[in-house]
Amino acid sequence: MRKRRFFGGIATLAFSLAACGVATASPERDVTVPADPTMIDFVDPSKVGGLATRTLTEGDSGGRQVHVSYPEFDAAPKLNEAVSKEAERRLHDFVRSTRVGGLEPRPELNMDWALDAATDDLIGVRLRTGEFLGANWGNSTTTLWYDKQSDQAFTSPGLLDGDSGLHGVAELVKNQLVKRGPEIDQNEVTASANLFDSLAFNRAGDLVAEFDDCQVGPCSLGRVAVAVPARQVEPLLSPAGRRAQDLVRETAMVAPLVTPKVMVSRSPDAVSQNAGSVDCKVRKCVALTFDDGPGPYTARLLDLLQQADARATFFTLGANASADPAILRRMSKEGHLVANHSWAHRDLAKLSSSKIADTLGRTQDTIAGAIGQTPTLVRPPYGAVNIDVRTVARRLGVSLVNWDVDTLDLRDRDPRLVAQRAVRGAHDGAIILLHDIERTTVDAVPDILNRLKGKGYALVTVPELYGAAGMRPGNVYTSGAVSAP
Ligand code: NI
Repeated sequence: MRKRRFFGGIATLAFSLAACGVATASPERDVTVPADPTMIDFVDPSKVGGLATRTLTEGDSGGRQVHVSYPEFDAAPKLNEAVSKEAERRLHDFVRSTRVGGLEPRPELNMDWALDAATDDLIGVRLRTGEFLGANWGNSTTTLWYDKQSDQAFTSPGLLDGDSGLHGVAELVKNQLVKRGPEIDQNEVTASANLFDSLAFNRAGDLVAEFDDCQVGPCSLGRVAVAVPARQVEPLLSPAGRRAQDLVRETAMVAPLVTPKVMVSRSPDAVSQNAGSVDCKVRKCVALTFDDGPGPYTARLLDLLQQADARATFFTLGANASADPAILRRMSKEGHLVANHSWAHRDLAKLSSSKIADTLGRTQDTIAGAIGQTPTLVRPPYGAVNIDVRTVARRLGVSLVNWDVDTLDLRDRDPRLVAQRAVRGAHDGAIILLHDIERTTVDAVPDILNRLKGKGYALVTVPELYGAAGMRPGNVYTSGAVSAP
């Protein structure tokens, strides 16, 4: 499903993109076909300076599940504005079109991102949105571009030479799609900016047009994408489009078209470097857990924990971790435990086993690549566990960790309230849920640490709550409590 390639120090992440137009592919399933011209090589975000990740959530209202994340670039405020507008628009539309309460499974909105290009001159951001509205995921992609030369952010059709460029590309795409069979509705393939809202280049310089699920044919087709050959598309490109094409081709020359052997050696299990320094059989212990990061406030949180000599468990998202592996190394070095919260925060109970294995496995690899240790703990997004999640977890050798004290910090962005809930809920063995993507949560931390220490608690990582008894892969843990609060 996932491939990571290292070419002479330049890493590109090839995401799991399905073969196009294959009638057997379901929208659920991704198939990696390395030779497929519609595959896009994404840029390794850890090699991009001045990049941060932002997250929009809705808090837990018992209704919708929302996790929208997108990148932010120090050097491109206009792109940031366009990207955050797009993220907010998606969230707004989703909230408007869904009711709160009473729906099972809960409606879900998820957005993650990848970089088609990222240099000083040009940036391409691919936003992938998944919506779950009762039965299935519907996935769509939008790719936004930024050109430093004009200091403009633009939608994908900006890569093309005006209307005539768009018409030319639409015609070429239609000709290709028609050949794929009668399932394709050629009347849907028109020269509309909305239809061609996700354009990028592959390593050969071909223009790859990606369509949303169900957009040009039945949903059973899964991902439909078309690669328009480089030579045919060249006369249809705008100046920015030509620069983007050149850039992607140049990068591909450094990374030749050879599939290298990736050395997979299992790293040792992740542990806190200070594990064992507290015996939770003789001392009262609580485990603070921070989810959904790393984010813009994580470094400050680490400073606060260090000052208080406290340890925590970080359930990190693979997508965020891939953009900032250095902060994971810092967590690990300072005695915290780095753990897995999936790649992009989709509810695992709404995914097939192969997708669960993919999202958790990719994150295991990303974290192991950063800290040299493989996580032993997974926190399932939204706390959602079913038999498939447990089976995959067992196979991966990870325990599932939920919580028994919820500070509701995504809903109530109020440091005083968050601290109060953490402290009042605390008991020997408590697992306390917090999120380091919220500034207000990090603001609450000094108070939480002071008051818990005042009550005699040691702040430890999750496995330390269980001591020598240990934790079993595939089991679900919500608290290390021997006695109720
Ligand atoms: Ni989460």
